[in-house]
Amino acid sequence: MLFTKTSPIQIVCPSCLGRLKPKNDVLSCSECQTCYKTMGNVPIMLVEKFINSQNEKTSNDFQLTDKTFMQELYNTISIQLNSSVVAPIAQFINYGYVANDSTQYSQPFFNNQVFNKKSIKLLGEAIGAIDLNGKRIIDVGCGRGGALNTIHKYYKPQISVGLDISYENVKYCGRTHKDRLFFLVGDAENLPFLDNSFDVIINMESSLNYPDLEKFYTEAYRILNTGGLFIYTDSVPTSEIMYRESFLKNLGFRIMRNTDATSNILLSLEESSNRSFLADKLRNNSEQRLYLNEDFLALPGGEKYRLLKEGVLLYKIYHLRK
Ligand SMILES: C[S@@+](CC[C@H](N)C(=O)[O-])C[C@H]1O[C@@H](n2cnc3c(N)ncnc32)[C@H](O)[C@@H]1O
Repeated sequence: MLFTKTSPIQIVCPSCLGRLKPKNDVLSCSECQTCYKTMGNVPIMLVEKFINSQNEKTSNDFQLTDKTFMQELYNTISIQLNSSVVAPIAQFINYGYVANDSTQYSQPFFNNQVFNKKSIKLLGEAIGAIDLNGKRIIDVGCGRGGALNTIHKYYKPQISVGLDISYENVKYCGRTHKDRLFFLVGDAENLPFLDNSFDVIINMESSLNYPDLEKFYTEAYRILNTGGLFIYTDSVPTSEIMYRESFLKNLGFRIMRNTDATSNILLSLEESSNRSFLADKLRNNSEQRLYLNEDFLALPGGEKYRLLKEGVLLYKIYHLRK
């Protein structure tokens, strides 16, 4: 379902948090007059044109923190997935999780899935024992909506919102997950919601791409209700962990859980190297190798895998309480 006038949560101007008035295909801010277009009922709540012309990049540097590039990259991935036979079930774009002898947190129903097994296991590990019934949930960087869809299957959240910078991802979500889930295009660094709008924020493997992570953390804190929970997973440079954790604490978050899941992610990547749909695409399509390479997918043989293996990056799961 896409956002409409009757959506249960208010979207506001991401620039000034002013009220939005619908006018034809446009939402216009009653305070700063900025207009946000809608495309096929998808509100495009983006503040700026993401041109990063000052930062000259080499052809080998795929600008993974450039927002225009991120949009194009994930639009392309989504279109590719849509044209494949697995389109209806290709609902996750993450590394997945494979259990080993480390402590596991997921509820039993997350453990024995048929489709998207490893990604759903990762979601279960991220949620742990938290009860999401009756909660107002947002998944920031929701990708193709698999996490929200799974949450909806096992819990009864009051409101489920998915926000992603990729229009194609959001379009897929609107088509695929129809039941009481709401999706919109937006930027994690400028969230179009009033303060205290949500009880739970989920952010899985998306923040690595944000140019201004502190802005995202600040926004996450702002839109979360007092007592609300920020469930956060990503690979983090080991050298930055202390700084990031103290930034989060200074904002007011209490770190309730801080799990290193690197060994589980590595196991999953090793399995994916043999079986993943994207890995096969990569092998068979030289055009896509430009960015869908071993490194992007973090497969063995790529730099990202090496960094995780050598401990230069750690894969963390956090529970942060406001
Ligand atoms: C690796 S995918 C993860 C998707 C999803 N969380 C999952 O686990 O399947 C990263 C997602 O973050 C989104 N993204 C990247 N930068 C973003 C930003 N600034 N704001 C919102 N979403 C963003 C991408 O479009 C992509 O869908």
